[in-house]
Amino acid sequence: MTVSESVHTASTTTASTTASTPVVPTAAGAGAATPDGVLRPHAEHAFADELRALAAADDRPRPARWRLSPWGVATYLLGGTLPDGTVITPKYVGPRRLVEVAVSTLATDRALLLLGVPGTAKTWVSEHLAAAVSGDSTLLVQGTAGTPEEAVRYGWDYAQLLAHGPSRAALVPSPVMRAMAEGTTARVEELTRIPADVQDALITILSEKTLPVPELGQEVQAVRGFNLIATANDRDRGVNELSSALRRRFNTVVLPLPATPDAEVDIVSRRVEQIGRSLDLPPTPDGTAEIRRVVTIFRELRDGATTDGRSKLKSPSGTLSTAEAISVVTGGLALAAHFGDGVLRPGDVAAGIMGAVVRDSATDRVVWQEYLETVVRERDGWQDFYRACREVSA
Ligand SMILES: Nc1ncnc2c1ncn2[C@@H]1O[C@H](COP(=O)(O)OP(=O)(O)OP(=O)(O)O)[C@@H](O)[C@H]1O
Ligand SMILES: [Mg+2]
Repeated sequence: MTVSESVHTASTTTASTTASTPVVPTAAGAGAATPDGVLRPHAEHAFADELRALAAADDRPRPARWRLSPWGVATYLLGGTLPDGTVITPKYVGPRRLVEVAVSTLATDRALLLLGVPGTAKTWVSEHLAAAVSGDSTLLVQGTAGTPEEAVRYGWDYAQLLAHGPSRAALVPSPVMRAMAEGTTARVEELTRIPADVQDALITILSEKTLPVPELGQEVQAVRGFNLIATANDRDRGVNELSSALRRRFNTVVLPLPATPDAEVDIVSRRVEQIGRSLDLPPTPDGTAEIRRVVTIFRELRDGATTDGRSKLKSPSGTLSTAEAISVVTGGLALAAHFGDGVLRPGDVAAGIMGAVVRDSATDRVVWQEYLETVVRERDGWQDFYRACREVSA
């Protein structure tokens, strides 16, 4: 096949998906300034001060093109205090060993797969790992059932292609190709939602560390420092099972649900505080009691038993993850700040909790009513909350 024929083939198969893909400048995240007022800055911007302090204090060996040593990356994720007293806030609350395995995997030639049920911080950890290792968490492919091969390999800028024929200037690199060329970290979200044939495009990349561009008779070879972090949801298992060939290229780290209620309260409190600050919500006096209640309810319904183990409960259809607890509390804080007296009260979280529990209305409503009448109603100190729930469900 001639060059022009192969380009033609590529263009007909990609026209519907990449025709509007803009040519994105490389390394948008690394070093790029965040415009004021961005709703959610990337991790490398939000925590730039911590990353700078860590880089200054970190005198351990760094793998090629890493901004920090593996120790520095793990400390960035798990938190700690530097010799000069700088406090590094924990981003991930969970087993230290898991983070160490994840970080050291990235320093090898195997890619990292973060697996777990929804809301276990897979995306969050992946973003922070990329930010700490490469200073850029933006080289991201979002996996869906419609993710085309171009999102993993490369596409074409058709104006350039028509005007000048196939050339490097007409090539639109995927985030993965850019990470290979720059020696940085690429991220693939929801890997198992991507159709199997598109997933297979990753096999050559991960095993041969090269991405051929037959149209140009060229290839892009990964430079040292390149690696890939993928996330996949346990619940999607069986949608597009990873082929064994691809699975062998990954080290899998399973992120668990928080082990104890205290750990989960800690995670929710930290994240709510951060989100509240970014949304300019007025600071609320201690909301720990209400946060603990949300976490208790979510854990009991998730586990199908009360904390004391005395009663069995039915579980609702939704996941009731830590991420949802964070949303419920953030919503509650907005209610308290704008329509209440600024203190997080039972009435501020009741509607949110019910909304999270009652999804598939027929069965979930029964589950919730039963929980309300048998557990909430009888529990010491939960009367206000019981009344607030009755009000919202009336
Ligand atoms: N162990 C944890 N430590 C710190 N934050 C956590 C933890 N578990 C959950 N979170 C918080 O939960 C939120 C959601 O996490 P994230 O979106 O990364 O979940 P996910 O596992 O990717 O979920 P999904 O499978 O739905 O994509 C984040 O704000 C994150 O901070
Ligand atoms: Mg995710």
